[in-house]
Amino acid sequence: MEQQFIMRGGHPLRGEVVIGGAKNAALGLIAAAILTDDTVVIENLPDVRDVNVMLDVLRELGAAVERTGSHTVSICAAGIRELSINDEFIRRIRASYYFIGALLGKYHSAVVPLPGGCAIGSRPIDQHLKGFRALGTDIRIQNGCVVAEAKDGLKGTHIYLDVVSVGATINIMLAAVLSERKTTIENVAKEPHIVDVANFLNSMGANIRGAGTDTIRIRGVKRLHGTSYAVIPDQIEAGTFMCAAAASRGDILIKNVIPKHLESISAKLVEMGNTVVEYDESIRVIGSAVQRPTDVKTLPYPGFPTDMQPQISVTLGLARGISVVTESIFESRFKYVDELARMGGAIKVEGNVSIIDGIRSYTGASVNALDLRAGAALVIAGLCAEGITTVREIGYIQRGYEHFERKLQALGAEIQLVEDEREAQKFRMRVG
Ligand code: UD1
Repeated sequence: MEQQFIMRGGHPLRGEVVIGGAKNAALGLIAAAILTDDTVVIENLPDVRDVNVMLDVLRELGAAVERTGSHTVSICAAGIRELSINDEFIRRIRASYYFIGALLGKYHSAVVPLPGGCAIGSRPIDQHLKGFRALGTDIRIQNGCVVAEAKDGLKGTHIYLDVVSVGATINIMLAAVLSERKTTIENVAKEPHIVDVANFLNSMGANIRGAGTDTIRIRGVKRLHGTSYAVIPDQIEAGTFMCAAAASRGDILIKNVIPKHLESISAKLVEMGNTVVEYDESIRVIGSAVQRPTDVKTLPYPGFPTDMQPQISVTLGLARGISVVTESIFESRFKYVDELARMGGAIKVEGNVSIIDGIRSYTGASVNALDLRAGAALVIAGLCAEGITTVREIGYIQRGYEHFERKLQALGAEIQLVEDEREAQKFRMRVG
């Protein structure tokens, strides 16, 4: 049996939780470490699967990677000799597309298998490739790989993104920092991790201005140097615990966050009748006994994050009345609705809109995680459900949440990670 989470719901979650470093920022930073031959130290690095796979890819390419603490890694990419990524890795992690930008930026050449579609949508990378081409790269797709080569080096230019894309924005930044002349990228994404990657690169000697606005300006520099840098707190992990507090009618102080990054989530929870108190580096969410429905539309930052859509939907599923959730970023992000229906959730999906009819309580069932955020949302549902819930395929959840079950246990949740049916049975006997 694969690892599963088993839980008995019905306890309001109370207490404190400390949020780790942002997974999506960390993935960009790890690739960016390629751009210098000096040693780069990254702190507050979450110990989650996606991050560890990214570090494995670096090792595979020839970089020296050393974990010097539970959340600190030291990377020296001077030994990189291999500019081609093994097919096995790309299947394990989509963000390995950042290696195209970083290898191109440093070595003017990269061969990286084309990432496939995934559970939440088709996820093309045409905007990444458009940016690389504009910088002077010859790109062809050969045997399933992106083969990128800039024989005469990369030359700064003007790039307009047709779609606001987090990945394309970061990837083009990675390619352009060491290019000749100036690059302007317009219609870029503004997510907190874009600012984090830009700050990291600037701490290595890059000259990037405007990250966090619609336009990023990069003046190419000749070389980058080593740095020591701490990853920002994870907006989505924090948001997940905020929803867990509201849905379970609990009271959680969520520490090590940047409340500004959580405003769209706070706003929705307050509209529902919950109390949200912001401090300098923490946020407290007190779940109201009776919650109102509201409408949510996912949008690029500072809009409501698509990565929080399943978690807020599960929370809205326990509000009194009808909520409408519009998913405008990824077309297939409502698949978890069928799993939630097994727990009594009453959600109808029409195209990219879901109509949620709030119920009094979920009931325990056996469900599949399906993807990272859907998995987290189903755990929240299980913790609010009557009876016992098992969430299978939790490898997805472990891609982005460090010690999820331990953090929840510390908040009073009856949840356990089980390896086999005997352990699951023991849990059932213990909780009755
Ligand atoms: C990143 C995040 C992911 C999050 C998403 C949206 C990482 C590693 N992942 O994914 O968790 O859900 O941002 O906030 O940071 N698109 C194109 N062409 C492209 C690129 C994107 O059409 O070349 C479309 C996508 O299909 C999607 C939209 O643009 O509809 C946004 O995607 P994008 O921001 O690129 O998402 P990712 O960077 O893959």
